[in-house]
Amino acid sequence: MTQTRSIIRGVGGYLPANCVTNDQLAQRVETSDEWIQQRTGIKQRYLAADGEYTSDLALAAAQQALERAGLTPADIDLIIVATTTPDYTFPSTATIVQRKLGMHHGAAFDLQAVCSGFVFAVATADSYLKNGLAKRALVIGAETFSRLLDWNDRTTCVLFGDGAGAVVMEVEHVGDDAPERGVLASSLRSDGHYWDKLYTQGGPSTTLGMGFVHMEGKEVFRHAVGMITDVVNSVFETTGYGVEDLDWFIPHQANKRIIDGAGHKLHIPPEKVVVTVDRHANTSAASVPLALNEAFTDGRIKPGDLVMLEAMGGGFTWAASLIRW
Ligand code: ACO
Repeated sequence: MTQTRSIIRGVGGYLPANCVTNDQLAQRVETSDEWIQQRTGIKQRYLAADGEYTSDLALAAAQQALERAGLTPADIDLIIVATTTPDYTFPSTATIVQRKLGMHHGAAFDLQAVCSGFVFAVATADSYLKNGLAKRALVIGAETFSRLLDWNDRTTCVLFGDGAGAVVMEVEHVGDDAPERGVLASSLRSDGHYWDKLYTQGGPSTTLGMGFVHMEGKEVFRHAVGMITDVVNSVFETTGYGVEDLDWFIPHQANKRIIDGAGHKLHIPPEKVVVTVDRHANTSAASVPLALNEAFTDGRIKPGDLVMLEAMGGGFTWAASLIRW
């Protein structure tokens, strides 16, 4: 008997060159390094240059993931870009990446689940691959979130940054006795009743514009830890694994206090939690793949490791995915 599974073949990431510290932000709005670090753990963030678009960040991350997988664009037949900050309202940023990769074949589309977008995209690609709709997928989380910010609003502009991360996923047909590998289970959730806790005050259909980010920070905080533990425990239940089996916990990097709160509630030892929010800030859909890329690049994640991805964001949306590396 054979089993069909989707595995991660390559990982990549990209951060824009311009690094902006909290002290530099404090020259633009009334804030301080101390306030930002105490409330969020953020020390700095990277901001895309003028003329540098989400598709450029996505492309750079995708190229690194392809190179590390030993593959070329010719080997890819599905591109999913998770983003809230597309280059244009349409066409999708995924089709722009497809063009920039020189591809005419395959399918490409964007996925919108805000900060949970990458985990939703991994689950979506996993399903496409296992159901025969594609053989190899580029799954990208990419954002120029800085462009959605009101830079005079100190309650939001200090929290976010730009960046991109990507993985190459591949379908495999192996014997039932093959060692476990790939995406084991995912849990996806949303509840649109929370829409006004975190949203942009505008869009093509409402204001004919884009709108800036509006957030009820305390409300987001209040729900985040419970929602994260909900999907993580759901994935553990499906797979039969537990916290004691986990090698790496890769959470959405919104806020160090939310990460600590979730880790504490789930009883995950801090040394197993990958943290990049201090250096990247919240890069929305890019945050999980950027953290994954860092832990892969510095050698923390090794073949056979059990890795939990999780995220929570606007909608609200929340999701987790358990992967055997
Ligand atoms: N610098 C200095 N002072 C500030 C700043 C700032 N950047 N922002 C707000 N303040 C002030 C407020 O004006 C307020 O002043 P006041 O008491 O004189 O009115 C005071 O600080 C406290 O403001 P609160 O909004 O109550 O601050 P809080 O302790 O809730 O912290 C924060 C705000 C960090 C956003 C917190 O609510 C939080 O962590 N929420 C989680 C949401 C989050 O991380 N979202 C990220 C995006 S969502 C996602 O990705 C899941």
